[in-house]
Amino acid sequence: MRILVTGADGQLGRCLQDQLGQTDHAWIACNRDSMDITDAQAVNTKIGDFKPEVIINAAAYTAVDKAESDEKTAWAINADAVGYLATAANMIGARILHVSTDYVFDGSATSPYKESDPVCPLGVYGASKLAGEQAAATANHFCVVRTAWVFSEYGNNFLKTMLRLAASRPELSVVADQIGTPTYAGDLAAALIGMAEEEIPSGVYHFSGGRSCSWHQFADAIFGVAANELSTFTRPEVLPISTSEYPTPAKRPAYSVLDDSLLRSVLPNAAGDWVQALPYVIGRA
Ligand SMILES: NC(=O)c1ccc[n+]([C@@H]2O[C@H](COP(=O)([O-])OP(=O)(O)OC[C@H]3O[C@@H](n4cnc5c(N)ncnc54)[C@H](OP(=O)(O)O)[C@@H]3O)[C@@H](O)[C@H]2O)c1
Repeated sequence: MRILVTGADGQLGRCLQDQLGQTDHAWIACNRDSMDITDAQAVNTKIGDFKPEVIINAAAYTAVDKAESDEKTAWAINADAVGYLATAANMIGARILHVSTDYVFDGSATSPYKESDPVCPLGVYGASKLAGEQAAATANHFCVVRTAWVFSEYGNNFLKTMLRLAASRPELSVVADQIGTPTYAGDLAAALIGMAEEEIPSGVYHFSGGRSCSWHQFADAIFGVAANELSTFTRPEVLPISTSEYPTPAKRPAYSVLDDSLLRSVLPNAAGDWVQALPYVIGRA
C-alpha cells in the first residue's frame, strides 16, 4: 500500500514513521519543508507525484492558547489546508485519514462523547479543527479520527513538560477539574495504520488511550512511573488546583472523554492504554 504522511516532524508524524518503517508499505512522510499543506500547489504536486492510496494528515496547528491570537494561521492550517488535501485525494482516488480533537466539544457532557454528539468548540483551535473535519469530509473516502491529550517521547507535550518542571521544582500545581483521556501517539499511529490497511468505512471515529483522568491524576501517574524508571528522578508533590486558579487564553472543555467503542469494534486489535505506555515513553522522553 502507498501511504503519504503529513506533519512528519510532529509527535504523531514521528510515531507514524517509526511504525511504517517496520512495514512493507511504500510510504513517504512530508514535513513543512517538503510539503507545506497550506500551499495548494505544493500539495497537488507532491500527492500527484507520489500517488498515495492513503493520505494520513498528522499536520496541524496545535498551539491551543496561541491560536486565540493567531486565528488566521490556525484556520489556514487546520481548516483550509485540509480542503487542499481532500481535493488532491479526490484527484487520484486516495483515501484521507484526518486527525481531529476532543476540543470540538464544549465539555458539558457527563458521559463519554460519541461521534454523533453535538459539537460546540470553546476556542479558535477547536473551531478550526471542526472546520477541518468538514473539509476532510469533502473527500470521497475519508475518516476523521478525533483523539485527545496526545503525549509521546517526541516534541512538546504535557508529559515532557511535567518531567522538565519536576527537575527543578519540589512542588507543582496541576489542574484537577478537567477530565479527559491521555493518548499515546504511538497507539494512535498504530490505529491509523490499521485503518489504512483495513479500509475502514468513511465517517467520524474517536480514538483515545483508555481510562479517563484529570491532568492532576495524569501528572501523578507520570511521576509515579518516573520514580520507578529513572534512577535520578525525585518525585515532586503534586497539588490539585482548579481551572480558575490557572487561567489560560483559551477556554478548555471541563470534560472531554471520548467514547471510542465504534473504532474499536471495527479495529478490535487496536492498542491504546496510556498507563501501559508510560514506562516506554518515560524511558525515551
Ligand atoms: N497534542 C495533543 O494533545 C492533541 C490532542 C488532540 C488532538 N490532537 C491532534 O492530533 C494531531 C497530531 O498532533 P501532534 O501532537 O502530533 O501535533 P504536533 O506535535 O504539534 O505536530 C504537528 C506538526 O504539523 C506540522 N505543521 C504545522 N503546519 C504545517 C504546514 N503548514 N505544513 C506542513 N506541516 C505543518 C508541524 O510542523 P512544524 O514542526 O514545522 O511546526 C508539526 O510538525 C493533530 O491533528 C492535532 O490537532 C492533538
